[in-house]
Amino acid sequence: MPSAVPPAGALPDPASIRLSVAPMMDWTDSHCRVFHRLLAPSARLYSEMVHANAVIHGDRTKLLAMDPVEHPVALQLGGSEPAQLAQAARIGAERGFDEINLNCGCPSDRVQAGRFGACLMREPTLVADGVAAMIAAVATLDRPVPVTVKCRLGVDDDHEYERFLAFIDAVADAGCGTFVVHARNAWLKGLSPKENREVPPLRYDWAWRLKRERPGLQVVVNGGIATLDDALSHLAHADGAMLGRAAYHDPYTLHRIDAALRGVPLQPRDQLLGSLRPYAESQLAQGVPLRHISRHILGLYHGQPGGRAYRQVLSEGAHLPGAGWALVEQAMAATVRAAAAA
Ligand SMILES: Cc1cc2nc3c(=O)[nH]c(=O)nc-3n(C[C@H](O)[C@H](O)[C@H](O)COP(=O)(O)O)c2cc1C
Repeated sequence: MPSAVPPAGALPDPASIRLSVAPMMDWTDSHCRVFHRLLAPSARLYSEMVHANAVIHGDRTKLLAMDPVEHPVALQLGGSEPAQLAQAARIGAERGFDEINLNCGCPSDRVQAGRFGACLMREPTLVADGVAAMIAAVATLDRPVPVTVKCRLGVDDDHEYERFLAFIDAVADAGCGTFVVHARNAWLKGLSPKENREVPPLRYDWAWRLKRERPGLQVVVNGGIATLDDALSHLAHADGAMLGRAAYHDPYTLHRIDAALRGVPLQPRDQLLGSLRPYAESQLAQGVPLRHISRHILGLYHGQPGGRAYRQVLSEGAHLPGAGWALVEQAMAATVRAAAAA
C-alpha cells in the first residue's frame, strides 16, 4: 500500500537534488565543500556525519563549520535517540544548514556498537520516531528545513524488496519525503567500511522501483556513479544522483556533470582553481595550513597529461612551513611543463 500520509516535513527544491555530493567522513569538510561548490554550482552538498551527541556537547565551531558559499548544504547526523536527534537537528538548522540528513547506512563497528548507521535499517520504528522528532524540532523555526534519510537497501542477507519498502514506508509515514538510497546492502559482519562500499552488489533497480511505486517521495540514487552518462541514467528513473568517491577523486567529473545539467560551457581546470584562490587566501590569513585545503584538490587533474606532476608538487610542498597559494601556482605550472614534455 502506498504511504497514505503526505510528507509532513519540508522537501528540498527538486532542482537542488538532481546532483549531490555524498557525505564522506574525513573528506567532505567545509574546505572540500567550498571547492565542490565552485566546481558544481547546482549540486547539493553534504557534511561528514556528525553524531548528534557531539553536536549537542561538542565544539560546534569546529564540527559545524560552514561557509556561506556552500548553500545548499546538508548536515548529516548520526544517532538513534529521538530526543537527542531532535536537539541536534534544531541546532544544525539554526546554524544555517539547509537540510538535516539521518545516516542509516554506515556499517562501521563503532557505529554498530552505538546502535546507529546501517543497523537502523532493521529498526524502522526507531528511525520513524527519530525522524518525527527531528521534523517537530525544526518545524517551529522561521525556516523549517527538510529532514531526510540516507539508507542502504538492507543489511546482511536481507534480500526482500518488501522489507526495504516497509522501512521506507514507516519512515515516510513519520514525515520524511526524501530518501538517498545507497543501492546495496551493508554487511555488518566481516567487511570493513571500505569493503562495504565495494563488495555488496549494487541493485539500482530497487531504488528505481521505489520511485515508481512511491512517486510522491523524492528518491536520490547513490553508489558507483562515476560519469555523466551514469548520472543521466539515474535521472531518467529517479530524482537525483549522488556521487561520493568519483566526485572526490576526480572532481572535474563533478564539474562536467554540473555543467551538462545546467547547459553551460565547461571551465578549464586552472580557471576553477583560480576561483578558489580568494577563499584559500582568506583561510591562510586566519592561520589554516594550506594542506587542509590542498588535500581536497589533488584529484583535479586526474587522468590528465601532467596530472601526476601537479599532485606531486602539491602533496610534497603543502606540508612545508609557510606553504601558500604560490605552491598551487607551481603545481599548475609543473602540470603544463609535464604535459608539454609528454
Ligand atoms: C571516505 C568515505 C567516508 C564516508 N563517510 C560517510 C558518512 O559520513 N556518511 C554516510 O552516509 N556515508 C559515508 N560514506 C559513504 C558515501 O556517502 C557513499 O554512500 C558511498 O561512498 C557510495 O557512493 P560512491 O560509490 O559514489 O562513492 C563514506 C564514503 C567514503 C569513501
